[in-house]
Amino acid sequence: MAGRPRRGGGRVRARDAGAGRSGAAPRRAAGTGTDAPHAAAAEADPPHAVVTGASSGIGRAVTERLLAAGWRVTALSRRPAGAAGDGLRWVAADLADLDRIPAAVAGVERADAVVHAAGLQRSARLGALSAADGAAMWQVHVAAAEVLVDALVDRVPDGGRVVLVGSRTMTGVPGKSQYAATKAALTALARSWAAELVARHVTVNVVAPGPTDTPMLHDPARAATPPRLPPMGRLVSPGEVAGTVAFLLGPDARSITGQTLVVCAGTSLG
Ligand SMILES: NC(=O)c1ccc[n+]([C@@H]2O[C@H](COP(=O)([O-])OP(=O)(O)OC[C@H]3O[C@@H](n4cnc5c(N)ncnc54)[C@H](OP(=O)(O)O)[C@@H]3O)[C@@H](O)[C@H]2O)c1
Repeated sequence: MAGRPRRGGGRVRARDAGAGRSGAAPRRAAGTGTDAPHAAAAEADPPHAVVTGASSGIGRAVTERLLAAGWRVTALSRRPAGAAGDGLRWVAADLADLDRIPAAVAGVERADAVVHAAGLQRSARLGALSAADGAAMWQVHVAAAEVLVDALVDRVPDGGRVVLVGSRTMTGVPGKSQYAATKAALTALARSWAAELVARHVTVNVVAPGPTDTPMLHDPARAATPPRLPPMGRLVSPGEVAGTVAFLLGPDARSITGQTLVVCAGTSLG
């Protein structure tokens, strides 16, 4: 197969992954600056995304959106992926177990996009912080992102995409300091990686949702900080967040890198 991953100095060559019905992410050779698609042979080969957190909420919505647009998706989560489709391959993975992440994606030959949506929220105010909770969130949000993208980077073709799901809480929210800190860290990862990969036209961005209508919102573990309705008077839907991710995976976003897109129905305004 063309574009086969080569570790140890090699990387997947630039190609047009054949964006399917989504119109997502045509590939360009690094440094060409042209819009010319690559080999027609590659166009028949649907693009492939690795999506974490695919069993629920935002990750599930991203998976469904990409499958509907003709992508192939390798979905990572502990519970089975919630979506269904011919292009779906679910790999059971506990992302807190960092040593096992490379093996979980060993079967991925090419990752046109990597979307890290897995997450959990534990909340407490100063004086009642749990180091274990803080470490658990850091492990899944930040450390797993590091291991996952590090393992896959040579299999991301030139022009590929990385999206980390952050949170609009990244600037600080009472009662969510540890959660917010992990999400702030994602913006640092994204900007650093964006700079490292810019010559290859690989974009790296953060999508930072506000209160989104997913099971996380009702998790008893975050009961100390119940969600507040955004100023727009409604929660963000997982589909809206998935749509923003899909935009970042599409051709119109090929010049957006190192950025954070906040999707919060006005929550961040005041
Ligand atoms: N909902 C919101 O209001 C909101 C707002 C801002 C940001 N976010 C962020 O959006 C992302 C998705 O959250 P969500 O709202 O969709 O929550 P959700 O419905 O609870 O889904 C969380 C996902 O993360 C996965 N996950 C958690 N721990 C994992 C682990 N150790 N290993 C593998 N997968 C793990 C879960 O899969 P398994 O349990 O099957 O492993 C599940 O698929 C998170 O990063 C969250 O911080 C959510």
